[in-house]
Amino acid sequence: MFKIAVAGTGYVGLVAGVCFAEVGHAVTCVDIDENKIKLMESGVSPIYEQDLEGLMQKNYAEGRLNYTTDYAKAYREADAIFIGVGTPEQPDGSANLSYIATVARQIAENVEKDCLVVVKSTVPVGTNDKVEQFIKDFLINDVKVEVASNPEFLAQGTAVHDTLHAARIIIGTESKWAEEVLMKIYEPFNLPIVSVNRRSAEMIKYASNDFLALKISYMNDIANLCELVGADIQDVAKGMSFDTRIGAKFLNAGIGYGGSCFPKDTKALEYLARQNGYELKTIQAAIDVNKYQKTKLFKKASDRLITFNGLKVAVLGLTFKPGTDDLREAPSLENVPLLLERGANIFAFDPVGVENFKKVYPEGKSGQGSITYVEKVEEALEGAHLCLIFTEWGEVKAITPEVYKKLMRVPLVYDGRNIYDVKDMENAGVEYYSIGRKSSEVSGNLAEVAATRV
Ligand code: UGA
Repeated sequence: MFKIAVAGTGYVGLVAGVCFAEVGHAVTCVDIDENKIKLMESGVSPIYEQDLEGLMQKNYAEGRLNYTTDYAKAYREADAIFIGVGTPEQPDGSANLSYIATVARQIAENVEKDCLVVVKSTVPVGTNDKVEQFIKDFLINDVKVEVASNPEFLAQGTAVHDTLHAARIIIGTESKWAEEVLMKIYEPFNLPIVSVNRRSAEMIKYASNDFLALKISYMNDIANLCELVGADIQDVAKGMSFDTRIGAKFLNAGIGYGGSCFPKDTKALEYLARQNGYELKTIQAAIDVNKYQKTKLFKKASDRLITFNGLKVAVLGLTFKPGTDDLREAPSLENVPLLLERGANIFAFDPVGVENFKKVYPEGKSGQGSITYVEKVEEALEGAHLCLIFTEWGEVKAITPEVYKKLMRVPLVYDGRNIYDVKDMENAGVEYYSIGRKSSEVSGNLAEVAATRV
């Protein structure tokens, strides 16, 4: 059993802390936000994440998990301090390391015994070296402090499962001692551990995330070509997936990757390369394809309609993917302002993302149009002239093609997540556009119908 302090109670820090407690370590989660600490002490998770609250309550009740704003005490007593604070993107694409620096300084000024500082946050290659030097420069007491890299691979929505059943643990260390401490901390997880040097560990994180981003952008690029030449991206992906060298995952074409990681980490690696005089052409291409993809449905709808002005537009899904309330880099955020500028009256549905979205777009008139939030998909569809699907929530997938036909004034659907079978939509009489597939062929000129009914 190790005494572990975790700095930062976001997706990375809190989930790591809770899972360390779950396998038997004594964990203190540190955050500067007093209200957040009180909330967690009362058993409420500040983030929406499956299974997290249950494990927080259990481990808190059993005394293995604590929360505090008193970082000095937490760092003083810890055998290992994990840093899981954010490294947000800066305007030039580089990672903002100021939160890491703040924690590093607090550690340096408070540790009273030998301890291992473990950086879990995604940081550019070479940052761990700097963090170690920074801590040594500010160290007050005569103790040994080493820094290790331990990048995180959890995905939002499945964070707890991804941590307890990770495909691998990456540890990057520069001494036998640091390697052994991390090996022992992770022993109870019983997972494969890959031990490398610090810089390689830092690079593994970026190379893994950016490979997946590249894979998605590649499929989006192929999907766009499929549309032009009459192939079907889902059949193409299926055919590719059986080749184990390619793998079956992350082959879904759509409206581009979002979230707090892929967009940020592609730009950060491209920036790192540029700083070192190298042009990372593959990653730049992934970034470019993703930018184009995000408003692809809007562009298609603009070509199809005379105007958005005064139309009731159903927007299904606001978050960047299902299973999370996170809106960072979500396609909805790119499309909603375009629709509002053109006078659309948006009726938006999302099972968990509405509260966060309201902070950016309060309910009511906005731009030339308006936005209304609804609790049921059906309310958004009722009388709508157009429907845009941005997130493949279960509640959206549960809506059958017949419901679109029945409820919408003009059954015109743009699906960014390829939820439906084209034939099923066609049979139901829905004019349906998706990604990388042919559109449905519906009899009658719906374009005219839409224009005359406005
Ligand atoms: C991602 C990685 O999957 C994690 O391994 C990593 O730890 C995390 O970033 C991080 O660096 O912290 P996350 O951003 O939570 O996790 O979400 P993903 O499930 O990877 O999805 C990212 C985006 O790609 C979403 O917008 C999703 O809709 C999109 N996506 C995913 C596709 O468009 N197609 C696919 O086939 C898969």
